[in-house]
Formats: sequence, C-alpha cells, structure tokens
Amino acid sequence: MPGYLGIDVGTSAVKAILVDERQVVLAEADIPLLVSRPQALWSEQDPEAWWQAVCAAVEQLRTKAPSAVADIRGIGLSGQMHGAVLLDESDKPLRPAILWNDGRSFREAEELGSRYSSLSRVMGVIPMPGFTAPKLLWLARNEPETFRAVRKVLLPKDYIRLKLTGIRETDMSDAAGTWWLDEAARSWSDEALAATGLDRTQMPTLIEGSQPSGTVRSEIAREWGLRSDVIVAGGAGDAAAGAVGLGAIEDGSAFISLGTSGQFFVTTRNFSPAPEALIHSFCHAVPDRWFQMAAMLNGASCLAWAAGLLRGDIADLLQRTEAAYRKPADLLFLPYLTGERTPHNDPYARGVFFGLSPETRQTDLVQAVLEGVAFSFADAKQCLEHAGTTLSHVGLIGGGSRSSFWTRILANVLDLSLIRYEGSDKGPAFGAARLARLAATGERPEEVCTGPAIIETIEPEAHLVDSYRPRIEAFRRLYSALKPEFGRAASIDRT
Ligand code: XUL
Repeated sequence: MPGYLGIDVGTSAVKAILVDERQVVLAEADIPLLVSRPQALWSEQDPEAWWQAVCAAVEQLRTKAPSAVADIRGIGLSGQMHGAVLLDESDKPLRPAILWNDGRSFREAEELGSRYSSLSRVMGVIPMPGFTAPKLLWLARNEPETFRAVRKVLLPKDYIRLKLTGIRETDMSDAAGTWWLDEAARSWSDEALAATGLDRTQMPTLIEGSQPSGTVRSEIAREWGLRSDVIVAGGAGDAAAGAVGLGAIEDGSAFISLGTSGQFFVTTRNFSPAPEALIHSFCHAVPDRWFQMAAMLNGASCLAWAAGLLRGDIADLLQRTEAAYRKPADLLFLPYLTGERTPHNDPYARGVFFGLSPETRQTDLVQAVLEGVAFSFADAKQCLEHAGTTLSHVGLIGGGSRSSFWTRILANVLDLSLIRYEGSDKGPAFGAARLARLAATGERPEEVCTGPAIIETIEPEAHLVDSYRPRIEAFRRLYSALKPEFGRAASIDRT
C-alpha cells in the first residue's frame, strides 16, 4: 500500500512518521539533537547533524516497517523556522546554522525595523532577532568573510531537501519566517533582501508546500531501500505543518502548539498583517491561505528544564503536582529562559521564580512553571485579539498536549474551551506526511487535511477563571518591573 513519510527537523529532535493511505501511522522514529550555545544569546546547530539524524530516523523506520518504507511514494519536510543555513558555492555549510531562538542580532533587528518601518506590513511582522534577515545583517558586520562567501541561504528543512534531491528550494510558509518574503504576493521582496545586502540569486526558489519539488536522488533511494520515483513535497515550517496535521486550513481554525516553543495559530483566508501587535502574519503551507500567529520561544521546554533540575521524571512530576493542586500557585514563574518574541520582543528576558519561601515544595515549582507558560499564552491571546481575531474553540497540539492537567490550567487561564485530539503529539511530522501525499497525488487539501478524532474538550471553570485573572496581571507586572533589570544584566554579561 502506498505510504508517505513526514520528517520534522525540530530543535530537540528529528522526528519521522510513516503513514499509509488511510493516514494510519505505521511507524515513528525520534532522534535527539543537541543545541550549542557558544556565547550568551547564541543558539546554533550543525546542519550535518540534522542530516545524520534524518538518516538514523529512516534506518529505524526500516527496521520497524521495511515493506512500508519500500512503498513510500512521497516525503514531506517540516522544520524549525527562521534558521540561517549559509552555503558556499559547493553547497557546503560555511558555519553552524544560526537558529530561531538565537538573540545575537537584536541590534540589526532594531535597525531594520526603524530604517524600513513600512516593510513590516509587507513582511507580515516586525523584524525580530530570531528571524533570518537580521542574522545576515549581523553576519555582514561580524563575520564579513563568511558573509561574502554566502551563495545560498537555506532554511533548516531545506538543507535536508538539498541532500535528498540536490534542489535548492523552499516553501512559502518557511520562506515567510525569513523577513524577506512579500507575504501577500508570495514572492521574495527585492527591497527587503537589499536591506540586508543580498539579492534573489542567494535565495532558494519558492513553491507551495503541497507542490512537488523534486524526486529523491537515486543513490539515496538505493541506500534507503526506496522506490526510484519518490516525490519530495515543498513541505512547511513547523508551525504551518502542525496546522496541516490538525486540518487547520480553514478561515478561523485556531490551535495552540505546546512544543519546545509555543505558538497560538489562527488560519486566515486573507493576508492580515498586524505587526504592531507583534503578531506574525505568514503564508500557510497550502495555496491561497495565510495565518496569524503569536510565537513564544519557551513552551514545554520549560517543563523539561525544570524536571531536569529537579531530577524528576516529567510524567511523575505532573501526576504529583496535579494531586497537590488546590488553586493558582502563590509562586510566579516567568518562562523567558531564551528571551521572548510575542509579546515582548525581548532577547534579554530570562526565567524567574518569584515568591519562594521555606514552605515552597517541588510541586509548587512545577505548578508555577505550568502556569507561567499558560500566562504567556494569555499574553498571546491578547495580542491576537488586538489583531482583530475572535477565538472560541481552540485545539491543542505538541508534547504539552499529552497532559490533561496542563490543558485544564491553560483552559482556565485563557478562559477558552480547549480540544485535545488523538495523536496530537504527532505534530508537524504528520502534517509533513500529508503534504507529501498532496504533492504525490495532486488531491485537494480539503480532502486530505481533515481534523483528527477528539479525545476531550476541556471547558474553563468559572471559579478558576476568576482566580487566575489577578495572577495573570501579577505575572505581567512582574515582567514590566524586571524588564530594565534584564537589559542591565545582559549589558554586564557583554562587558
Ligand atoms: C515559529 C518559531 C518556532 C520554530 C521552532 O515562529 O520560531 O516554531 O519554528 O520550532
């Protein structure tokens, strides 16, 4: 039976999912990745490590489902957005890739924003340090030799496409996160490229996520035991791929992704920029659709970090915290471990526990972490509302959605009904597999991108919604009070 492979080049892992024609998952593989932080604000990965992880993931799938791998018809790629993979004339990376959560280009982002303020509406968002364009301006100033040697700038998943097919191409939804794409026209903006000293020849070609991009090279097909005609789809940035996996391709369909990072995502039928609200208005992975997104840099990664420090197992910590839960915690946690994008655009912000006392228990810390992340989603909701979006029923995907306890906290903090779906932790890799199918079969997105079965809808509870409201305000005040200190601490760090 024909099968489709989705590969998500994430930050903490490469995830691969093999589905059959009925969209049943046949096998999955996860290969962990490391992030290197050689200097304050820096975040890098070696593109070669992504490729090795992809090969290892396919190897695992071959062990688990050899005949299904041999019948793969299409491969879809999804990946962490905004990264800068800088290639020389022989397609070799010139340096480690600079990732989405890297804050080094904060000055360049500010400068682009003030010198080219009218471009933000065209690019769908103000320039922020994690985006690709300000990184290239940083490179021109700080590593000029490398900058001069750059022949192509690729996004992370597109480095895997290059390895697989030899083609230098990207899809609209990933190109959208560079700050070089004219989102309404779905084409590169010469003006934005020129603002960072680049031109179109240094960009990959553009296609829609559901279009075929090329076929897998014969030597890889042989090595992986694939057919000789496997199509590679345009694919998508991880946010849009998650939406495709969830069937969120119609106007107004909304979901929260609680993975390493966090996103509050709403599909729109038209391009609706709201840069002043720090919303990202980007091209979707299927034609003639866009989305609005609040993007937070710190999601379920905060819980993983806390569990690591507390030397606890996440499932056990969650269970004990739920058992101890009575009401909103007295402790507050600011989740800005790697700075924040929406709503603060602040690379200096850092994590904070506020209100520790001799009575503070391990479960109080965990509850504060769960609530702090939820409060940052309350800020995201407010930004989307300022951008004119009305929300009612919202899906929840990503690793964090496995916990119905965390979902309940989120529903009460956001005062929204939240829907947990079956298989919702499959995330972007599943969406990528759907794009592979669309590219290979030419089916219409509406036929393939249906919603998954619902496990439960968690409704907000009036008494908890009321008691969370003042805590959200306290959370906001705490950040405002500390904002100047974050800036000061960072300038001491830099001296
Ligand atoms: C979205 C964003 C993250 C990254 C990493 O704007 O920065 O989703 O794609 O997952």
